[in-house]
Amino acid sequence: MKITEDIKYVGVNDRKVDLFEGQYVVPNGMAYNSYVILDEKIAVFDTVAEGFEEEWLNNIKSVLGDKTPDYLIIQHMEPDHSANIEAFLKVYPNTAVVGNIKTFALMEQFNQLSFVNNKLTVSDKEQLSLGKHNLTFIFAPMVHWPEVMVTYDSYDKVLFSADGFGKFGALDADEDWDCEARRYYIGIVGKYGAQVQRLLQAASTLDIKIICPLHGPVLTENLSHYIEKYNIWSSYNVESEGVMIAYTSVYGHTKKAAELLKDKLEKLGCKKVVFADLARDDMAECVEDAFRYGKLVLATTTYNNDIFPFMKEFIEHLLERNYQNRTIAFIENGSWAPNAMKTMQGMFEKSKNITYLKHNITIKSALKDDTIKEIEALAQELCK
Ligand code: FEO
Repeated sequence: MKITEDIKYVGVNDRKVDLFEGQYVVPNGMAYNSYVILDEKIAVFDTVAEGFEEEWLNNIKSVLGDKTPDYLIIQHMEPDHSANIEAFLKVYPNTAVVGNIKTFALMEQFNQLSFVNNKLTVSDKEQLSLGKHNLTFIFAPMVHWPEVMVTYDSYDKVLFSADGFGKFGALDADEDWDCEARRYYIGIVGKYGAQVQRLLQAASTLDIKIICPLHGPVLTENLSHYIEKYNIWSSYNVESEGVMIAYTSVYGHTKKAAELLKDKLEKLGCKKVVFADLARDDMAECVEDAFRYGKLVLATTTYNNDIFPFMKEFIEHLLERNYQNRTIAFIENGSWAPNAMKTMQGMFEKSKNITYLKHNITIKSALKDDTIKEIEALAQELCK
C-alpha cells in the first residue's frame, strides 16, 4: 500500500487475536502497522506482533526487492510492535537499529538487544537524514510507555505517531473511527492525559498532512477532527451531551430502578441516555462512555458491606484513568444495611471537579411509591 511516493505500508492485520493486550475484546481484529521510507537511505518503522514475522518480512521484501534497509526505527518497545526485531535482523543483520536510551534498556529486558549489531541511539529532537526525507524524533514518554518516541518527516509532512491516533480493528474492518479509537485511547492511554497534551502541543508546531499510527488507518484527511478528539480526551473534557446510567443488579430490582430512570429521562426529552449493565456489557466500552458523557448515574447494591464487584471494578477503571470534570448521581440498594452510596462516593474522594446531584436514591430491596417519586426528581435534576 502506497502512502506517498516514497512511503509504503508494510503492516499486518491480526484477525485471530482474542484479547488485545490480554484484556480488550477486538471483534474486528487488530492492525500492527509498519512503514518503509524509500530514499537514498531506507528506513523501516517498527516491527509487528509475534506470529506475523513471515507476512511482515514478505511485505518488506515486496517493497524493497533486493535492497537492504539502512535503519530499523523502534518507536515503541511494547511487544505488539517490537516482537520481531530478532526475525528482522536475521534477514538484515547489518541494519542499524534506531532507538533512545530507554528503548535499548527495554530491548535488553525483552532479550532482543543481543541480536543488534549496529545500534544508533538518538536523543529528543535529534534528526536523521535519509536523503530528501529528514526525520525528527520527538520523545513522547508515557504515550504509552516511557521509551515512546514519534517521528516527523518534513519532506512528506508525515507524523509517525506510535500508539497515538491508533484504534482497535484490522485495517479491512469497516467501522467508525471515533468509537473504536475512543475505546482504545481511554482504555490504553487514558491515564496519561497530561503526556498526550504535551505531545499535541509539540505536534501543533509541525505542518502535518498525514498521520501514520501503529494501529488503525493512516489518517490523510480532516486531521483537525482527530486532533480535536485527542484534545478533548486527553484534557478530560466532556465530549458529548448525555447521561450514562451504569448499573449492576442481583435480582432485577436495581435494574428496574435504572430502567425507570432511563424512561423518565427519555420522556423529559433528555437527548442521549446510555444504559450499561456492568456485569454483561464490555467493560472497556462502559469506561469509554463514562468519559464521553458529562453525567453519570451509578446504581448498585450493597454487597459484603461494600459494593457489587462489577461496579467496584468499573469505578476503579475510572479512577485509574483520572476521571474528573463530571456530574455523578447514585442509586443504592440494600435490604438491611445500605452502604453502597457512601462507599461509591468515598471512592471518588480524590477525583477533581466532581459535582454530586442532590437527589440520590436509597432503595430498600424493591421500588415503592416514595422511591419512584425520588427517581422522577432525579430525572428532573439530570435534565436541567
Ligand atoms: Fe500498540 Fe503500546 O502498544
